Amino acid sequence: MTEINAVTTLTRDGDVAIITLNSPPVNALSANVRNGLFEGFKAAGASDAKAIVLICEGRTFIAGADISEFGAPGKPSASLFDVQEMMENSPKPVIAAIHGTALGGGLEVALCAHYRVAVPSARLGLPEVALGLLPGAGGTQRLPRVVGVETALEMMTSGRHVPAPEAFKLGLVDELAEEGKLKEAALAFANKCVAENRPLVKISENNTKLEAAKGHPEIFANFRKANARKFRGFDAPEANIKCIEAAVNSATFEEGLKAERTLFGGLMSGAQSAAQRYYFFAERQANKIPGIADDTPVRPINKVGIIGAGTMGGGIAMNFANVGIEVVIVEQQQAPLDKGLATIRSNYERSRTAKPEETAKRIGLITGSLSMEEAFKDVDLVIEAVFERMDVKKDIFAKLDAICKPGAILATNTSGLNIDEIASVTKRPQDVIGLHFFSPANVMKLLEIVRADHTADDVIQTSMKLAKKIGKIAALVGVCPGFVGNRILGQRQREAQKLVMEGAMPWDVDRVLYDFGFPMGPFAMSDLAGLDIGWVKEKSHGETIRDVLCEADRRGQKTGAGYYDYDENRVAKPSPFTEKVIHDFIVKSGANPRKISDEEILERCIFPMINEGVKILEEGKAIRASDVDVVWVNGYGWPVYRGGPMFYGDLVGGPAVVLKKMQEFEAKMGDQFKPAPLLEKLVAEGKTFADLKG
Ligand code: CAA
Repeated sequence: MTEINAVTTLTRDGDVAIITLNSPPVNALSANVRNGLFEGFKAAGASDAKAIVLICEGRTFIAGADISEFGAPGKPSASLFDVQEMMENSPKPVIAAIHGTALGGGLEVALCAHYRVAVPSARLGLPEVALGLLPGAGGTQRLPRVVGVETALEMMTSGRHVPAPEAFKLGLVDELAEEGKLKEAALAFANKCVAENRPLVKISENNTKLEAAKGHPEIFANFRKANARKFRGFDAPEANIKCIEAAVNSATFEEGLKAERTLFGGLMSGAQSAAQRYYFFAERQANKIPGIADDTPVRPINKVGIIGAGTMGGGIAMNFANVGIEVVIVEQQQAPLDKGLATIRSNYERSRTAKPEETAKRIGLITGSLSMEEAFKDVDLVIEAVFERMDVKKDIFAKLDAICKPGAILATNTSGLNIDEIASVTKRPQDVIGLHFFSPANVMKLLEIVRADHTADDVIQTSMKLAKKIGKIAALVGVCPGFVGNRILGQRQREAQKLVMEGAMPWDVDRVLYDFGFPMGPFAMSDLAGLDIGWVKEKSHGETIRDVLCEADRRGQKTGAGYYDYDENRVAKPSPFTEKVIHDFIVKSGANPRKISDEEILERCIFPMINEGVKILEEGKAIRASDVDVVWVNGYGWPVYRGGPMFYGDLVGGPAVVLKKMQEFEAKMGDQFKPAPLLEKLVAEGKTFADLKG
């Protein structure tokens, strides 16, 4: 065995040289890895081996460029292009042996091998789009040459990780190896290449699939049109599409590469990719809890109890059944229980994400009961998901304390009540935690995990790991009204309402926030959710805009009208009726409606959110600024290409700019805009929001 460098070795098996990479955690293409590959291929090329296999140790093949190196000053090292050239031009067959994931630069390396062998569990993809980028090492030019233009468009703009069996059908993988026997299969394949004198396939030289798309610009036009909504606001999908267009329309591979280079440079130096790369690490950072070691033992969770078969309880139940965990839902009456279970069944049947037998298995894992005593004796975790009333929750937790086995985790899905108060009725506050799911709970990615005063470390650790298992993105937050997400939302909602009372129309506010990148504005959202949530007809006397709209039976989309008017296809139009209602309210209040600029709308909605984020961090209710961003990107539709409210705060100039704005607003409009004391401290110390790292 020859040690090429700290992460690369060269060994020999008969006629085959084996280059092995071992650079945990994911064999990302750091300078060390690139150097190792370059020197490894050089040494293998100079040896008398007749073929070369590239294989990786650890959990995965190369998972891409080393994202943490982006933007950092480069160490002198071999470039990815040097490595690729060495592989593609090797006079001996090069075989990439793939397990885990071959992603981004990792797949781009594999595409420069002459052949690829993979185990069925492997996944291959070019996910750069999710980082606001495009595959910048020839991937945009090679992928369509292998899989064709349409598939390349889909793969590169979605960033999908394609399972190896599908990749095999697409021609991206040449042979599927038996699971666990990758090395043997790759060696056998290499020996076959030698014995049969197989050609050294260079993807860059095969234009057949591109020819098929030449003279058909409608392929691209149709693709853009079909995905316009999905790509709205993002720069990277369009740049990826342009690269594939360049592959089709360029006279040579090199010309296409040049276009790729230029477009890659544009994205890499842009604000969107900076935000999306930041966010990649933010999500992973959120899993790290200071003071709780990653190897803290977790409590086994094999059976979950849920109280409440409503939309929330049912959605939560599906998360656990989806990963094979048994769930029992308790309701007080048979009818709502039956209704809840029926809704779960129909959700499963409609979603068709799993095969029918898998769907049946999941449905079978969820049962119902009318008795907490019966159902919860042996559960490892209970999640209470009933309506938001402290007395009801306390009553439930006192009962749970009496029923559940020692060590069971007692969780509440409250979206803002004081969990310490809830825990106080039990004799085991260390087992009580908040698990705040977002609606619809089987779809929304965010989980706010709420640590109460006495919550035990292993309960937090178990909850964090469980969140990952059920596919959620978790952020640990502290007890305060609204926690992190809703507390910040409160600021935006307040300003949106006030802006309307000053002369902006709901559709003006919505348009500004939509253009900023939110999926919809607050008024469109109210119409979707129903204006009558929490509205009581008998008590309504036209005191608010909402009262008047609801009294006129404008209760949102479901009644064909709310803030907006809706046509039969539920397309919204500004409503003269709403406009008059608002106007009457303003006049009644003695104010004069004024023209409000888009800039003011945006600043009034966004800056108080950032200020509230700072207050939350100051009070220790979130660990770090990036956790606030994780909550807002995942739970509230903050556009990921703007990183999150705290990242955005830095982007627009940092604490000094936010402070100045808040002071300006405070002087004009009072206390609600009072800057957080920590904001002033950050400015005094010349720090950024990103410095709030916990
Ligand atoms: N660069 C640097 N670090 C990376 C990384 C990368 N490409 N991919 C993962 N990591 C790190 C993570 O930050 C994490 O670090 P910590 O343990 O310190 O938090 C660790 O590796 C493990 O990652 P995950 O927690 O995400 O592990 P997982 O098993 O859930 O997922 C994965 C593994 C599917 C590879 C996932 O990490 C992933 O999707 N990585 C990014 C892949 C990617 O986008 N590649 C393209 C890079 S850009 C590129 O290649 C440009 C180009 O054209 C040259």
